[in-house]
Amino acid sequence: MNLQYGLPANLMAWAEQNHDKLSPPVCNAAVFPDGDYIINMVGGPNYRTDFHCNPTEEIFYQIKGNAHLNIWDRGKFEQILIKEGDIFLLPANLIHSPQRPEPGLCLLIEKPRPEGHPDALNWYCANCATLVFSASGQLTNLVENLPAWYQLFYQKPDAERVCPSCGEVHAGKDAQTWLARFKDVHQMAYG
Ligand SMILES: [Fe+2]
Repeated sequence: MNLQYGLPANLMAWAEQNHDKLSPPVCNAAVFPDGDYIINMVGGPNYRTDFHCNPTEEIFYQIKGNAHLNIWDRGKFEQILIKEGDIFLLPANLIHSPQRPEPGLCLLIEKPRPEGHPDALNWYCANCATLVFSASGQLTNLVENLPAWYQLFYQKPDAERVCPSCGEVHAGKDAQTWLARFKDVHQMAYG
């Protein structure tokens, strides 16, 4: 028997072996890099300022630790808590920003993107929730494509990260600053 992806293997042992990749700054490793499904284990702690719009559904299985999603929906921010042990099916195109305060483990299963259905990374004003910058394109490799899109925004000077609506400067990749402002202005449970 020649199994393309090997025999069943213990997932927690795999996570232990890949502990370095599941810790900052990467926090992400493909469980089966060559399979049809996109299956990643996500570690932590990890905070971020980008919001992701995925044209396909995502399954979150929060194995260890708690996490939450910041959501942007029709001009308003909301939050979804994903507790240890929870499974969650994120609908396609729900704009989300995963926040992982703990060195936990989350199994994240996604689908390959159909041709002509681009992903987007959006950055919103922490004060008034207006879109400040968006990068989008056909996603072919989660781990390789996204860092290039991050740089499009994070390399900009402060003057080019100004909210077109209220004039506040977006904190860029400084998640601590952005999340503190977001939590304060919008009275969110988690910063
Ligand atoms: Fe604003």
